[in-house]
Amino acid sequence: MKPLRMAVAKGRLEEEVLELLDKTGIDCSPAADKGRKLILPLDQGRLELILAKTADIITYVEHGVCDLGIVGKDTIMESAQSLYEVMDLGLGKCRMILAAYQDQDFYHGFGVKTVATKYPNIARAFFEGKAMDVNIVKIEGSVELAPLLGLADGIVDIVETGGTLKANGLEEKELIAHLSARLVVNVASMKMRKNEIDSFIERVYKAMAESKGVAK
Ligand code: PRP
Repeated sequence: MKPLRMAVAKGRLEEEVLELLDKTGIDCSPAADKGRKLILPLDQGRLELILAKTADIITYVEHGVCDLGIVGKDTIMESAQSLYEVMDLGLGKCRMILAAYQDQDFYHGFGVKTVATKYPNIARAFFEGKAMDVNIVKIEGSVELAPLLGLADGIVDIVETGGTLKANGLEEKELIAHLSARLVVNVASMKMRKNEIDSFIERVYKAMAESKGVAK
């Protein structure tokens, strides 16, 4: 039988996902000496792990070349069109926030504000919800630089420890969303491979419940 294909983001989240899979009883040892390989056969060939760039995971799952994906809620909010988000894995917890200079009231004054972000869709939806007109400037990384350089009044970005904001004289002004890694499923796979996917979800759920029990 064809393996279930699951795309996972390379880097930060990869290790946490492998730990979780290990707890489900899936032998993740092929990942230890993967070298530059991007497709890893696991679980006696029943599961194929695809190591992809975060933003591409949604593309692979929506096109059905991967049945499953593990991806941050930020990426889903920014770009997902049609897939099922079935489970909060509780990994990679962080927040999407609006931040600005520490002593500045971001909402002060009537001029149109400029906001820098890697997440223009999330930022647009957030300000539309406030019926507020803003200029959005897309920045690819280290978004905190934009207000420091005078390009923006504020930023919409991810905060984890708050260290980067603090070190650059910025502070959180408003919470936009709590974020964590989610398990997503292709719409057709959910129908065609329902039993395999359900049993995979159950294994993950059990492993999460057990490790919570151990943590108590
Ligand atoms: C993220 C985010 C912040 C930083 C927040 O950037 O965009 O810059 O982490 O983390 P902290 O609250 O723990 O300081 P990342 O390190 O992913 O790099 P990037 O800015 O190049 O996207």
